[in-house]
Amino acid sequence: MNYQPFLAMSPFPPIMDSLLRWHPDPLAFALKACAVLATIVGLSCWTLNKRLYPSTAPPIVEIESSEMFNNPKVAYALALRNSKGIVGVRRKGRLEYIVDRSFTHQVLTDDSKFSFELGTLSSEIATRLDEAMAAVVPIFQSNVDDLVNDLPLGSALTPVDFEAFVHRTMASAMIQLILGKDYLSADNIKRVENIAVEVATLGGIFQNMSWFSRTFPSVWRIAIWIRVFLYSIPINFILGIGREVYHQLGQIDSYDKEGRGRGESDGGTAFTWARRYVDHRQGQIGVLDRFWILTVVLGMIFASVHQTAVVMIWMAFELAKRPEDVQRIREEMEREGLSMRYASLRRFEFLDSFIREVMRTKGDTLSTVRMTTMDVPLGEYVIPSGSFVVPLATQSHESEFYHGENARDFVGDRWVGQEKPSSMLSTSYWPFGLGRWACPGRTLAVAEIKVLMLLLLQRTEFALEGGDYKVVDPLTVTSVAPEGTLLLQRCV
Ligand code: HEM
Repeated sequence: MNYQPFLAMSPFPPIMDSLLRWHPDPLAFALKACAVLATIVGLSCWTLNKRLYPSTAPPIVEIESSEMFNNPKVAYALALRNSKGIVGVRRKGRLEYIVDRSFTHQVLTDDSKFSFELGTLSSEIATRLDEAMAAVVPIFQSNVDDLVNDLPLGSALTPVDFEAFVHRTMASAMIQLILGKDYLSADNIKRVENIAVEVATLGGIFQNMSWFSRTFPSVWRIAIWIRVFLYSIPINFILGIGREVYHQLGQIDSYDKEGRGRGESDGGTAFTWARRYVDHRQGQIGVLDRFWILTVVLGMIFASVHQTAVVMIWMAFELAKRPEDVQRIREEMEREGLSMRYASLRRFEFLDSFIREVMRTKGDTLSTVRMTTMDVPLGEYVIPSGSFVVPLATQSHESEFYHGENARDFVGDRWVGQEKPSSMLSTSYWPFGLGRWACPGRTLAVAEIKVLMLLLLQRTEFALEGGDYKVVDPLTVTSVAPEGTLLLQRCV
């Protein structure tokens, strides 16, 4: 090709000439071009970030990934120590503002500025606790009987798959409570267990546990999103339970006072609640509302099954380590009897104190999050609108200011006589969140934990293989169960 006309037009003929005569090795050229491009993009992002990051916002602190995931309590406390109570920290590619206990109350309770989730589901669960207990206790009883009857009477301590047991039990109990006994089939129980784990995965709960997901959080999130929404939820929920629920919702009409769907089913809470969506002009629940109810049911299943199951594991492991506390619970059992009604469960004061102590000391760190709905002045800084703000829970739960010199110790009877039941939240204790968005299912969750522990203690002795358990994900202790093997000895 004749380049001369171009060279003549160019203001830099010698450069153009050499460029046009240049025949680079294509691979080397591509690599160099990529490197130059990456540098340009990196530098632009860095300058843009520097320029856009407001000077009034809190300083950003880098925490080594290994420290963040293996020792979050100390790593975040150190970051906060040299700050004025607020620091920005990037975790899995997301900037979060971590606050110490002096800002916890404001962040978790001032819902005009800090929102839990824009468009979150607000439910009215657990308002009828006696009915709820009547629905779930028989399930707990029969599952415990199945587990214990499998153990030879009077034999030595035997390992059991406690994690599978609690997930199965919670899935069955919540199907019975939320959807009604017609939905209690082996297939549905398995599906609900799967949904609970899959939604937990979607929420990033297991994301801290693999190198890949920690290093490439965005790729991991996209992959999980595709798996959960395009495979797991359609298979386990939409084509299974969801279809049946949708059908039953369509049968609820203006005349059906109980939400039973023309007498077809012994409707659970979801169907009673769904009645408020009956469109009285059509005499039925509209299609869009049915989908909304299905979404709420899915959320409820996740919120109720997985978290409670994990806390049950923490409870059993802690009990197994503390035989003297087990003895005190047995004494309460003798004194109070085992009626399993909600009112009588409240009289188990030592057991309740033990639960509160497990919830307080298990090591929650970044468990409850809010998002700013506007630029919010906080301490000496302004947190930009749309930011995630996360109070560091250990700063409250292990604070000597709140809990005295032995704040870090597990004291089973710490709350006996203090009029502070395990579901009562405050700035010094908030494992169920705090303020308007605090967990509405917490009284039910605590009652369920009590029932399961009492039923197990009634028939078995507990121990832990090797005497201890291992915390696998210190950053997400409420949602990722500790690892250990529970040993049970059948006594009755
Ligand atoms: C030990 C078990 C449980 C734990 C540790 C737990 C913990 C939590 C936490 C930390 C929150 C967020 C609160 C906040 O941001 O302030 C929450 C929200 C929620 N929980 Fe629970 N929860 C448990 C059991 C349950 C149960 C059994 C149910 C249902 C029966 C339930 C239903 C919900 C719902 C619906 C929300 C969202 C609240 C809203 O959007 O307003 N949870 N839970």
